[in-house]
Amino acid sequence: MKIIVTGGAGFIGSNFIFHILKEHPADRIICLDKLTYAGNLSTLSDVMEKPDFRFVQADICDREAVFPLFEEEKPDAVVNFAAESHVDRSIEDPAVFLKTNVLGTQVLMDACRTFGMVRFHQVGTDEVYGDLPLDRPDLFFTEETPLRTSSPYSASKAGADLLALAYHRTYGLPVTVSRCSNNYGPYQFPEKLIPLMIANALADKPLPVYGTGENVRDWLYVEDHCKAIDLILRNGRVGEVYNVGGHNEMRNIDIVKLICRELGKPESLITFVPDRKGHDLRYAIDPAKIRDTLGWYPETKFEDGIGETINWYLEHRCWWEEIISGAYRNGISACGFSVDGDNRET
Ligand code: NAD
Ligand code: DAU
Repeated sequence: MKIIVTGGAGFIGSNFIFHILKEHPADRIICLDKLTYAGNLSTLSDVMEKPDFRFVQADICDREAVFPLFEEEKPDAVVNFAAESHVDRSIEDPAVFLKTNVLGTQVLMDACRTFGMVRFHQVGTDEVYGDLPLDRPDLFFTEETPLRTSSPYSASKAGADLLALAYHRTYGLPVTVSRCSNNYGPYQFPEKLIPLMIANALADKPLPVYGTGENVRDWLYVEDHCKAIDLILRNGRVGEVYNVGGHNEMRNIDIVKLICRELGKPESLITFVPDRKGHDLRYAIDPAKIRDTLGWYPETKFEDGIGETINWYLEHRCWWEEIISGAYRNGISACGFSVDGDNRET
């Protein structure tokens, strides 16, 4: 399979590229990424020179860049990870979320229609379902749960999902959508809860917990998410939505305390700060459909995954310290990565 992976210089997209190149050595990957603040070429340094990998720096909203790439590469499939992904940023400035997440998805699907009805997978989020009450642990999000978004981020992601399903119904585009819960693991940008808390704790800085810290998220190791997308892409039914999650609900405050314990840091670093506007209370996925139809299940237990993740951040300080200092934006990493080679195309 020849797959265009958008947003592959970000957290989940890069892990997906590593997964595909390892598990499907006959596949070829073309990574299309704008390299916004969230994209980091050094993440891809190990695969940059591989013959079955190509990196193209471009904006998914830019038809003049996207269409010629499809014409040249004639991909079999597109997996769309490219997005503005951080809820707090969407509250500050929604415009770019609507542009990239909705209009960028449209450009990609128009290219898929134009160049041979290319198989399209939209990487969605459980945030499109809104939230669940904290006092009803019996309730879960199913694929039938009505969309009820809370933030400009989740509204833009819901727009993209609906557009993808509309392209299937109207034009017959072979589309699938996955909606996953919170991911954690290597290469997550240190603005998100787990890597932010690890980085701050290691620097003995305050650990900012929003509100009371009682909000619940359903955590999934990133590799398990990548396996789910891979399965949906190859064996999923077009026109269908698949929820992805591993029944691993944790309160934010418990995650932060766990990180303090693992790093030998005092809980006195925890600082309660004003709550996020519109803060969703609880996410919880019912993964019965993907389990029963595609045989997917989460393989990594949270105790193992969080330990591996903390170790990864300890062993890759240079990766996230260059993000915090801003040095990662110039494309030349001091961490021993070389990312300015011939394979970097703009
Ligand atoms: P991320 O912010 O780490 O990475 C996003 C990537 O997209 C970056 O490399 C960035 O440069 C690229 N990008 C942004 N705008 C672009 C544009 N206009 N054109 C081309 N590239 C662009 O995000 P992530 O956490 O890896 O999330 C990936 C996808 O998965 C997103 O669609 C997100 O909504 C979804 N998702 C994330 C989670 C999670 O827990 N992180 C859970 C469920 C779904
Ligand atoms: O559920 C899937 C979603 O998970 C994805 O669609 C999003 O792209 C991804 O960013 C994530 O969204 P969240 O808002 O849940 O993730 P975040 O890491 O920003 O926050 C997790 C929880 O921790 C949330 O309840 C807010 C809280 N939080 C977050 C930060 C950054 C804090 O208490 N303090 C913080 O500093």
